[in-house]
Amino acid sequence: MNYLFFIFFLHIEHLFAIRVCQKNDFKHLFNLNLDVCSAIPLIETFSRWKFDNSRLKELPLDPEKRNYVRRNVHNAIFSQVPVTPIRSPTLLAVSDDALRNVLNVRPKVTQDSNFVDFINGVFRPENSLTYAHRYGGHQFGSWADQLGDGRANLLGERISFDGKRWEYQLKGSGRTPYSRDGDGRAVLRSSIREFLCSEAMHYLDVPTSRAAAIIVSEDTVMRDQFYDGHPQREKVAIVLRLAESWFRIGSLEILAKGKEIDNLRQLIDFIIENHFKSIDLKDENKYIIFFNEVVNNTAYTIAKWTSIGFAHGVCNTDNFSLLGLTIDYGPFGFLDAYNPGWTPNTSDDEYRYAFNKQAFVGSFNLLKLREALLPLIPHEKLPSVRNILNGFYPLYTRYFNKLYCQKLALIKCEKEDEHIINQLLKMMEGKSADFTMTFRQLSEIRLNIHEQIDIPKTAWALKHLSSHNQFDAWTRNWMKRLEESGLNLNEAKQIMNRVNPRYILRNWISQEAIEMADRGDFSRVRLILDILKNPYKLQKPAEDLKYANRPPKWAKGLKVSCSS
Ligand SMILES: *[C@@H]1O[C@H](CO)[C@@H](O)[C@H](O)[C@H]1NC(C)=O
Ligand SMILES: *[C@@H]1O[C@H](CO)[C@@H](O)[C@H](O)[C@H]1NC(C)=O
Ligand SMILES: *[C@@H]1O[C@H](CO)[C@@H](O)[C@H](O)[C@H]1NC(C)=O
Repeated sequence: MNYLFFIFFLHIEHLFAIRVCQKNDFKHLFNLNLDVCSAIPLIETFSRWKFDNSRLKELPLDPEKRNYVRRNVHNAIFSQVPVTPIRSPTLLAVSDDALRNVLNVRPKVTQDSNFVDFINGVFRPENSLTYAHRYGGHQFGSWADQLGDGRANLLGERISFDGKRWEYQLKGSGRTPYSRDGDGRAVLRSSIREFLCSEAMHYLDVPTSRAAAIIVSEDTVMRDQFYDGHPQREKVAIVLRLAESWFRIGSLEILAKGKEIDNLRQLIDFIIENHFKSIDLKDENKYIIFFNEVVNNTAYTIAKWTSIGFAHGVCNTDNFSLLGLTIDYGPFGFLDAYNPGWTPNTSDDEYRYAFNKQAFVGSFNLLKLREALLPLIPHEKLPSVRNILNGFYPLYTRYFNKLYCQKLALIKCEKEDEHIINQLLKMMEGKSADFTMTFRQLSEIRLNIHEQIDIPKTAWALKHLSSHNQFDAWTRNWMKRLEESGLNLNEAKQIMNRVNPRYILRNWISQEAIEMADRGDFSRVRLILDILKNPYKLQKPAEDLKYANRPPKWAKGLKVSCSS
């Protein structure tokens, strides 16, 4: 009621352009205050913050309440297990944007002592849960049986002021029945990477989970970071991460494999009802439509990854969201030099999850989803499900072409344009051109249709590429297509500058921030988050740190480990 009234009020404000920002009359009514610029009512005191009453409680809960590792939990979607707090937690960084727009709190609440206690599982707002999710998955091509949240706790759900439903999860919050041999902790290194990258992906417009805050402890755990027999002590951290849903393909697979068909039906219905509002639960084809939408969303997200040079690194079915979100940031990476066969996982010697295999792996994962849905789909409908799956690759290709056409301002996006894209990528591969900066500098240089383009020395990536013997011919073709499209060159540049980032989370950039944070200096993590909020905008601090320069030599030898 209050909320509706507030929305109404905002509309009135727009209509009559009344500045309500400074007014506090409504504070007493709603226990809220109006944020000066965002016009969102933000919560001022964290002790007032609470979850909504969660519908997740309707899903089957494991009756075993003792928390010990069990390889064969049955007939449950969640186990209830307490969070194991870390000692002497320190707030390392927060995402102001996630705080405002998802939690709807004023960023200053992070100074309330119960905010850190919240991230540490000690302060439990009203309607809190602590659930570990049971799921399974295909890992590296084979069925891995029960996996589950081995170091994560679902805390609850809450609808943000824009009407989106968010599930809150702690990662690194201790052992659960699904920890297998793990200790339930996440180290500082991998937590910072997840924190920064999920926010960066959000600002790059990629469907993704978010991160609101990260805390770090002086507690350490042993990790053999490079699996080379040299384990070391590393600090542990907890990340508060957020997603509209954390359910994965593996969430359904385990139920289908275990013949828990009622649970399977209940979970899919729950997901459809909460996240696929356009599907009618009474529709007899609802599971087929659901599959179609998951296929579509997955194709789109992977095409987005490819368009910004992102490789996920572990595309197992348990790391693939049913909403097509990017989740579980592990050994991910962004391409420096364009090499389509590159993989961020240094132990992946088969290159199974290489950059250019992600679409293939996506279709494999969707095939596994289809298998999980089979018990609910009548026999005569199977051909249409097969057709949907066969449609994945064409759909992916369509998204891919559309996104790459935008990167080059080829707004008609016809066959000829695809040819231009492919030729550019081939040249880039041949020259190992920097992926991000080649596209960016194509958007930044002065374009002229009738003259040879003049590449300044500062456009280092493009300068390098221009030594390719087909570069001049390629630019002529590209210019010709731009001219035919009827765009003027300024418009073309604007389109390109909106989709070709100047700053991405390169490994060397996170590495420096991780080393500083490990020494207790969190300023770099915070600065990077700030920079990546506007990846398309030239920023002095980023230039000073050379984030748009050629990666330093030491970046080349940098290995990203999977141990986390
Ligand atoms: C497919 O996904 C795209 C991108 O998320 C979305 O815009 C579109 O509405 C989806 N189409 C269907 C039929 O779900
Ligand atoms: C993917 O899921 C597996 C199984 O739960 C987990 O061990 C792994 O850490 C996840 N990958 C990432 C990158 O988080
Ligand atoms: C990296 O690849 C290897 C080999 O395929 C695999 O065993 C390992 O689990 C992968 N790492 C992660 C984090 O998935």
